[in-house]
Amino acid sequence: MAGSRASRLGAGVGPKHPQVVVLVGATGDLAQRKLLPGLYHLFSAGFIPDLRIVGVSLDDIGVEAFRERAHKAIDRFFTRQARDGEWAAFAERLDYVPLSAGAAALAEAVGRAEASLGQESQRLHYLSVPPAAALTVVRLLAEADLAAGSRIVMEKPFGTDLESAVALNERLHEVFSEDQIFRIDHFLGKEPAQNILAFRFANGLFEPIWNRTFIDHVQIDVPETLGLGTRAAFYEATGAYRDMVVTHLFQILGFMAMEPPTSLEPGPISEEKNKVFRSMLPLDPREVVRGQYAGYRDEPGVDPQSDTETFIALKCRIDNWRWAGVPFFLRTGKRMAEGQRIISIAFREPPKSMFPVNSGVGAQGPDHLTFDLADASKMSLSFYGKRPGPGMRLDKLSLQFNMKDTGLMGEVLEAYERLILDAMRGDHTLFTTAEGIERLWEVSTPLLEAPPPVRLYAPGSWGPKSIHQLVAPQAWRLPFEREWRNTDEQG
Ligand code: BG6
Repeated sequence: MAGSRASRLGAGVGPKHPQVVVLVGATGDLAQRKLLPGLYHLFSAGFIPDLRIVGVSLDDIGVEAFRERAHKAIDRFFTRQARDGEWAAFAERLDYVPLSAGAAALAEAVGRAEASLGQESQRLHYLSVPPAAALTVVRLLAEADLAAGSRIVMEKPFGTDLESAVALNERLHEVFSEDQIFRIDHFLGKEPAQNILAFRFANGLFEPIWNRTFIDHVQIDVPETLGLGTRAAFYEATGAYRDMVVTHLFQILGFMAMEPPTSLEPGPISEEKNKVFRSMLPLDPREVVRGQYAGYRDEPGVDPQSDTETFIALKCRIDNWRWAGVPFFLRTGKRMAEGQRIISIAFREPPKSMFPVNSGVGAQGPDHLTFDLADASKMSLSFYGKRPGPGMRLDKLSLQFNMKDTGLMGEVLEAYERLILDAMRGDHTLFTTAEGIERLWEVSTPLLEAPPPVRLYAPGSWGPKSIHQLVAPQAWRLPFEREWRNTDEQG
């Protein structure tokens, strides 16, 4: 039951007040796959024992039908061991109001939920709706008088360019102040993303070399094997750059490149991340490769002449004291050879090599530090070492860490769970700000105004051929020359 797990996991780290979640888009894809199973976990593990959820969507269904859909979603997408009785306890917390019922009905349902909690509660609106619908929902919340004192979680995309992002933020700020808004970027909720901060700032070893003197270049590489699924309409209008780079990859870059914050508080962390974005030079379209996988234009729902990129690779520069002259290479795409999420930091060559030419030194690229942002944090430090035997032959060796080896994987919160919990606690650390988003659109402007033509790539490949020129004289770290250590498979 909820209480027994509470003592193990959720006790003491949940929000101060009981929570009423207004989940708009409650029958949609994200709600089914992530949000309802996530809320279910947070409830049953005791993080939020006092919870009510008011589902809202365009579907004209009643509360029982909503509970049934939620049950099916949890059966299908809940990845942990469910316990007897937990579902019934959760189902009681679910209510539903169709959008067509209007503001008064919504206000009434939220009022009922709040009254049932019997003490001061906190309201969290979660907008899991397409961008075009977001402002309509915001106005509905205002009309229902549900905005004051509440928090609101917004899903990307936050605009499609600078102008639309500024307009969106202005309209949003008419109803909600910036400190009420939580713009979600689920990559920042991934355990390994937060581990970048721990790794950088809790250790004495690496931070002193985290700069242009020691680092040659950085790669943030997120190839996906996935195709479009049922998202053709969304994807056609969005493309890989807006879907992945402006949001997830740039946010990771922010963590990777920021200065040490004055404290581990939301304000100082956002400030340092925003300083990185301010130092970014506007993208140069000549340093961008846009790709489209062969066959994309034949997919249902895709324009036969579509110019949407399903792949993007680019060089990005951060023009500050720490990073001037160090290129950051970013790449992501659909239907690629492998699904990976890595950050790889390549160190500069030693100033002088005393090893014989044929020793193998440098033959397998520079020494690297690599973070894997897969669900279990993995890291590897690869370096040249001596091959046993006579003479001085060198091989690339590695030290590897896999979180699975710690036995702590059961404690990992899924990205959305972590972020929902943080929003409920009013913690903005892992969320993005209006200023940050607008700056990212600003540096994107040259690319959006003059995108290079899309080049075809074969599904199952690593992208168009020109990706190699982009990083020359270096090489992409992926595909790895050597796999991660095997323990990963056993975990
Ligand atoms: C989403 C994008 O935000 O992130 C998808 O819209 C992408 O296109 C997904 O596949 C990747 O997230 P994850 O957590 O599966 O790596």
